[in-house]
Order: sequence, then structure tokens, then C-alpha cells
Amino acid sequence: MVTILITGSSGQIGSDLIPALVRKYGKSSVIASDITFSDRDYDVEKIRLDVTKKEDIETVIKEKSVTDIFHLGAILSASAEKHPYEAFFVNGNGTLNVMEAAAKYSVNRIIIPSSIAVFGNDIAKERVKPMDSTHPTTMYGITKVLSELLAQYYTSTYGISVRGMRFPGIISYETPPMAGTTDYAVDMFIHAVNHENYKCYLKPDTPLPMMYFPDAIDALVKIFEAEERSLRYRMEYNVSAFTFTPSELYSLIKEYYPDFSVEYEPDYRQNIAESWPHSLDYFDAVKDWGYSPRFSLNDTVKDMIVNLERIRKENDMKKTLTQNP
Ligand code: SER
Repeated sequence: MVTILITGSSGQIGSDLIPALVRKYGKSSVIASDITFSDRDYDVEKIRLDVTKKEDIETVIKEKSVTDIFHLGAILSASAEKHPYEAFFVNGNGTLNVMEAAAKYSVNRIIIPSSIAVFGNDIAKERVKPMDSTHPTTMYGITKVLSELLAQYYTSTYGISVRGMRFPGIISYETPPMAGTTDYAVDMFIHAVNHENYKCYLKPDTPLPMMYFPDAIDALVKIFEAEERSLRYRMEYNVSAFTFTPSELYSLIKEYYPDFSVEYEPDYRQNIAESWPHSLDYFDAVKDWGYSPRFSLNDTVKDMIVNLERIRKENDMKKTLTQNP
């Protein structure tokens, strides 16, 4: 029997993870928590919880007999560069608070997403390995390196099993773009489907590693269920599925929407993207806990368009119904 607490449950990963955990463990085993909730109506218990408040986390763990935590509450890279102090406070202190509260009440596992942002400019950018050096140039990256180090510390000192993996950009139609640097990709899809042109904040030739959200959710569930003895690292596993540049994505989307056009107006996010790897070596994740991405870039583009078109039609229908009840 598990009781899983999710922090930051309304964010990009949380909204996709809840249904997967409910399917596997039943809805009474999943508790969603965040500082605010979106309109999406998850059929699980929801608790307002701020990860910067350690006592509040302790109360939830104790009162709900939480056995495991997916700690997803964090400020993403683009927002973090605008508000570095707040980002350290939420991502750094928040992670410390979750680990400390979990240690106090003997939680079994904490799963935390790390990021390609842990890497910096001192390494070769292609096929980056888990143990390549991590000297990030962004505050977001600094907080993720800190989380990885805390994961090792709390696992070896307190016997909680802290686990995770470094995600690349995650492409999803379920959540709107949420202040990540890689989110231009989702935004480009949304503009194309809505027949609007798009202004991209990255240069056309900026390669970044990416993956489709079902593969990210599958990875989280797999590492959650992995045998402790099969894990060589805590949160240092790399995962990804493919790499593309904004202009490559544009060409693929244009095949479906020939009139779609993109302008490029790079801003501060270009520096963030340029400090990150172009591709990752994820072989250790395959070997240790069976990571196996199913979606290629072409599958992803097709599936995104089918689902965003469906959502657009549903929204149009809702609008018509409210205008002509
Ligand atoms: N997708 C994240 C971001 O862009 C990277 O971890 O912030």
C-alpha cells in the first residue's frame, strides 16, 4: 500500500503524472498538492501546500501517512533567471524542506526531476554522459545541482531513497507553456494549430534535447518502481528522446500548416539555451531501470497536432454553447 504525495502537482509534469499514478495505484493513493490549482479537475485529494514551509510539509506527511513523494514543485529556468533569489528559495530550500520532513517521518522514496540545466559550458555538447561535469551558468541549474547533491546526502545519511533523472525539454499538449526555456516548442505548436504566426525567442539554429510527455511519465514511474540495488546514481540519470532546432521543428509543423510562419527574435533565453547540451547519453537509464522512449520526433509532431486540434475544437464548441445556450 502506498500513499503518494505530489508537490507542484498543477505544473507541467504533475498534470500528466497524476492520471498515470491513479491508473497504477488507485485514486485513494494519490494526494495532489500545490500553492494554487488549475481548472483541471483531478479526481484525487488536493491540498494547498507551499514547499517553502517545512512544518506544513511535515503536517501533511504525518496526517496523511505519506509513504512516498514526487517532489515537482519548482520554478522553471526562464522565470528563475528573472527571479534568481526566489528560485533559490523555492527550488533549493523547498527541496531541502521536503527531504528534511521526509527524513523525520521515514518516507520511503522521493522522486525529483532534475534537468539538462545542471550542465554548463565546460563540456562537449553532444551525447553528454551522467558523470560529465556539472557547472551550470543559470540559477535554475544551480538549484538542480544542489538537489542532486542533497539527494546523495539524504539517501546516504537518512536512508530515504531519493531518485530522479535529468529531463530535457518535455513536449506536452496537456499544459500550456510554463516559463521553461524549452517551452518555445509547445508554444510553436499551439500557435500553428490556432492559425497564428509565432515569434520565437531562440535563434533558428539552437539545438536542444527533447522528449514527448508519455515517455517522461513512463520514466518517472519506472524509476519509482526500480529495485534500489539496480540504481547506480540518485538523480544523475540522463533521459531524452531526440534533438531539434526551432527551424527544424518549424519545417515539420509547416508540413501540416503550409501558411504557418515563424519570426526569430532571440532574448535572454538564448543564453540559457546555449549553455545547455545538444544531446544526452541516456544508456545508463536504459540499462539500470529500463528507460525506453517510444515516441520519435515525427510521432510527437503528429500526436501533438491531433490532440491540439481536438482541444481547439472542444474549446470552440464550448464557446459556441456559452454564446448560444
Ligand atoms: N524544460 C526545462 C526548462 O526549460 C528544463 O529543465 O526550464
